Order: sequence, then structure tokens, then C-alpha cells
Amino acid sequence: MTIPLLLLLLLLAVAAPRRSVQAASRQRHPVVLVPGYASNELDARLTELYRPSSPRRGERKGHGWFRLFLNQSALHEPAGVRCFGEQMSTVYDAASDDYYNVPGVETRVPSFGSTKGFRYPDPDDKSFSYMEKLVERLEKAGYRDGETMFGAPYDFRYAVAPAGRPSRVGSAFFRALKSLVERASRLNGGRRVTIVTHSYGGTLAHQFLVRRPLPWRRRFVRRFVPVAAPWGGLVLGMQVLLSGNNLALPFVDPLALRQEYRSLQSSLWPLPSPAVFGAAQPLVTTKSRNYSAGDVAGFLAAIGLGEAVGPYESRVLPLFGTLPAPLKVPVSCVVGVGVGTAERMVYPGDDFDVTPGVVVGDGDGLVNLASLVAVETTWSRGRHFRMVKVPNVSHTGILVEDRALDIIIREIQRAN
Ligand SMILES: *[C@@H]1O[C@H](CO)[C@@H](O)[C@H](O)[C@H]1NC(C)=O
Ligand SMILES: *[C@@H]1O[C@H](CO)[C@@H](O)[C@H](O)[C@H]1NC(C)=O
Ligand SMILES: *[C@@H]1O[C@H](CO)[C@@H](O)[C@H](O)[C@H]1NC(C)=O
Repeated sequence: MTIPLLLLLLLLAVAAPRRSVQAASRQRHPVVLVPGYASNELDARLTELYRPSSPRRGERKGHGWFRLFLNQSALHEPAGVRCFGEQMSTVYDAASDDYYNVPGVETRVPSFGSTKGFRYPDPDDKSFSYMEKLVERLEKAGYRDGETMFGAPYDFRYAVAPAGRPSRVGSAFFRALKSLVERASRLNGGRRVTIVTHSYGGTLAHQFLVRRPLPWRRRFVRRFVPVAAPWGGLVLGMQVLLSGNNLALPFVDPLALRQEYRSLQSSLWPLPSPAVFGAAQPLVTTKSRNYSAGDVAGFLAAIGLGEAVGPYESRVLPLFGTLPAPLKVPVSCVVGVGVGTAERMVYPGDDFDVTPGVVVGDGDGLVNLASLVAVETTWSRGRHFRMVKVPNVSHTGILVEDRALDIIIREIQRAN
């Protein structure tokens, strides 16, 4: 009796420190962050092929890489906004069924693998950021950039296409994201990775994950934490095609960037999906016609964006015509609710060039509640699914307000 007990005590004494070291590092599963739309830097360079519509726009030609997104001081005058819009635009080529930069504009995403490229999308003006507070909170919790915390910025003007269709930029991002997740795991003793996303980054990451074989997901993904993901688009996704998108910069006229916004593949992703909004419920109402999520193609044609109908029907609808498939890995969705959100746009006549009336419903101020929680029923059939609703917090406030950040950090660190 005595000897085995002594032996046991000795073994415990030897094993205890090692166990606690292991326990501490076991808690530190690496995190890969995928930011939301227009949250990270984009560089551009203008080659000889670039044909600017005014000489001033060609000033940077031949002068190497510069920060196209975001440089707020370049957007303070209308001429700068027009220049930015022209260089940010993309072109859909029906023959090759893919999107491209305009000729002569080359782009790249700096700092892939790190959170540096999205702490401040404009490092010269730190008043604007979506991700900074979350990154800071993760650092306070002990995560280190490049060691236990990694960033996956991307060219948010592009998206991916359904399997079998070309998507040069999106496919390259998915290949890079796969390598990053594997590297994050390898650098941390083979531990699985927690993938944390905001908004559009969540829809994109879901497309990435659902295309990975189940054994890969189970090997590499510890938990998926999509924050404020618009699973079935948003009613305002239709409206932004009409009003333009000023990228949340109050001094930029959204209409000045409407053509640019309309040219992007990613602009078709937030369109409301029939799987979530139904094929009959009117979302945009005019005097003589109602447009529902089942009639987005009709809406695109009616607003003068007929050229987007083909890509919408072949490249977007197949991805969002049904509810997102469950991933069979642990998931914590964190969403803001209880903030007035546009549920229907009401145009008094048939003219879209007027300010519409807005019928307001529940959501996070941008994304409708129905879309935020769309995956709840099907995904909660798996055992490891959580839908955490944070009352009274907006789509971007969820990354700013402490009570919301506390919840996000808790879900990231939640044991499986
Ligand atoms: C930002 O834009 C301003 C105005 O066009 C320019 O002077 C400045 O060099 C730009 N900054 C960067 C980092 O490119
Ligand atoms: C549009 O939908 C509303 C609400 O369902 C309905 O009252 C209206 O008659 C519809 N208008 C047209 C032109 O179909
Ligand atoms: C929601 O937020 C608004 C604005 O911050 C505040 O005035 C209101 O009291 C809040 N309501 C609840 C129920 O927390």
C-alpha cells in the first residue's frame, strides 16, 4: 500500500507542472479572423494599360504600389472620389464568366496572415475601424498576432462563384485561407483553429468551410464564430444598388460611387434570398409593381442593371437560393437584435430616383432579423450550435460595445 501511494505522489509531483503547462497552452487555440466588407486595406498600382478618364487620375501611373483603400484624405473632394470609384471598379466578362479589375489597375491585399491590414483600414486616420477593438480585446486575452492570432483580409470587391464556375480572385483567397488555417494549427502544436468573422466575412467563410471536406473541417476547425452574418442577404442590399455605397464615410456622396458599387461581384451577395425572405413578400414596392426576393432579377432590370441579371442567376442565386448548409463543427453565431432595420422600401410612384418610405422591422440596423437567425433551425439540430442574441446592438456596434465584445470573447474561448 505504502509504496504505490508514495510512487503515485511522486508521479503526481513530476507530472503536475507539465500538466498545468499543457493545460494553459491547450486553452490557447489559435484564432483566425476574417473581417467584414470593406474592413481591410487594398493596394493598387497603375500600369501603362491604364486609360484614366482624366489626366489627374493617371498621376500614379508607373509609380508603384499605393494604398487605394483606404486613404480618407484622397476622398475629401469629389474629383478624388471619382478617381477612387474608377480604380475600384471591376468588369464582368461574360465570355470567361469572371470578374476583373479595369485594365491597367493591379491590386493586392497587404498583410495577409496578420491582423495588421484591418486594424485600421486607413493607418493614417485611426478614427475609422471596424475590427480594432476586437483585435485589442484578443490581445488583452493573451493572443499574439502571427503566433496565436491570424488575419485573413481579402479583396472585398470580389466573391466566389458556385463550384465549377471560374472565380480567380475568390478561389485564390480560399486557397490562401486554407493554408493559413493549417499553418495556424501547425504553429500551435496541431491544435484546431477558431474562425471568427464579421458580417460578409461570415458568409464568405461559410462558403469556404462548406467546400472543405468534412474530415478537414473536423481536423482543423475547433469552432466557427460568425458575428452578424447576413445568411440570406438584407433588404437594404437592394436599396444600396439604387443609392450607392459611401463605405460608411460620411463625407463621401454615395451616389458618386454607385457605378463602382454596381460593377462589383460582391454587391450581388447581400441581395435578399428567397430562402429567407420568401418568394412573395414585397420588399421594394412601387406604384405599379412589387419586388420580392423571388424577383430580384426583375428588380435589377428595372433599375437599369440588366447586365447583372446573368451573373446574379448563375453565380449568386445557386449559393443563396437555399439556406446555408450546416458545417458539422461547433458554431456560435453572435447577432445584434432590437434595432430598427429596413424591411420594405416604398416608392410612391414608379420612379426610383426619389427617397423611398421605409417600413422598419427588427434586426441590427442593417441586416434583418430573419437573415441573422436564418440558420438557427437547421444548424441547431447539431449538438454544438449556439445563437447568441445581443439586444439593442447594431451591425457595427457589436464590434465596439463592451457588452457585445465580452460575449464574442466568451464564445471564442468557450470549451467544446
Ligand atoms: C492619400 O491621398 C492624398 C491625397 O491624394 C495623398 O497626398 C497621399 O499621399 C495619399 N496617401 C497614401 C498613403 O497614399
Ligand atoms: C404590392 O404589395 C402590397 C402589399 O402586399 C399590396 O397592397 C399592393 O397591392 C401590391 N401592389 C402591386 C402593384 O401589386
Ligand atoms: C437601446 O439603445 C438606445 C440608444 O443607445 C438607448 O437609448 C435605449 O435605452 C436602449 N434600450 C434598451 C432596452 O437597452
